[in-house]
Amino acid sequence: MSTPETRKQDVEHPGQDDSQRDEQEGHARSARPQDRTTILMARQLEKTVGSGSSAITILKALDLEIHAGESVAIVGSSGSGKSTLLALLAGLDTLTHGELALFGEPLSSLDEDGRARLRAGQVGFVFQNFQLLPTLTALENVLLPLELSESSVDARQAQQWLARVGLEARVQHLPKQLSGGEQQRVAIARAFVTRPALVFADEPTGNLDRATGDRIADLLFTLNRESGTTLVLVTHDPQLAARCDRTLILDEGRLHAHGDSTAASHHEPDGVDHR
Ligand SMILES: Nc1ncnc2c1ncn2[C@@H]1O[C@H](COP(=O)(O)OP(=O)(O)O)[C@@H](O)[C@H]1O
Ligand SMILES: [Mg+2]
Repeated sequence: MSTPETRKQDVEHPGQDDSQRDEQEGHARSARPQDRTTILMARQLEKTVGSGSSAITILKALDLEIHAGESVAIVGSSGSGKSTLLALLAGLDTLTHGELALFGEPLSSLDEDGRARLRAGQVGFVFQNFQLLPTLTALENVLLPLELSESSVDARQAQQWLARVGLEARVQHLPKQLSGGEQQRVAIARAFVTRPALVFADEPTGNLDRATGDRIADLLFTLNRESGTTLVLVTHDPQLAARCDRTLILDEGRLHAHGDSTAASHHEPDGVDHR
């Protein structure tokens, strides 16, 4: 019945239009309706890591389509390949087989520099382990994508983003002087500072307490609603996943729509990812 392309609302309330669903669900959907422009298209993705007898195929014949303005949650047990998938989709890693297009551009036709140019200013990425540069302050880390993109660099923009994630008092601190949750928020500010059309975030609230996590989630969905930022989130947090337009489960190397009975039962929604 449902496919990975099926929106959550279509599964739960087939045959209704968005306004009827809005009333029933009691929340306002995007003021700017989602267009159906395909922003990301993946066909038959395969990823094998390691070599020889230790080689393992993490992703197999995986298909995915994401439209501009959507918010999509990817869930799955620890080790199911969520981080690997996110890096592949963002063009940060290379496929073993399959086709992937971002903003209509096939990544196979681009070398590493070409992929970096395509991402610059258009794609933001929040890494599970943050990947902040250790010798740069919080502010300098957030300024970096502005310096790498061709847009003019305005330190105030970076400062405003750090304030939006509640770190106005931490701008001059180095990553090692910040807690895990604070580093995560610097990573979020860095991902959004160029106002990208598409943001990938790997467990963006994984190191935050409930209140801070809710505040960051509010920020993510405000940007999704007001700026049309497309969100692809890996998460173990059922509350965060429930706020997305649809949830996909990664299991046995493939994505299944949440609620799809063909999905295998290995999914552990509350599993803790120690990676
Ligand atoms: N470069 C690599 N070499 C070998 N194994 C890897 C590599 N990258 C990931 N893996 C393995 O692939 C599996 C999926 O990893 P990962 O994508 O981090 O999963 P998740 O994010 O869902 O926890 C894990 O078993 C991990 O150990
Ligand atoms: Mg992971």
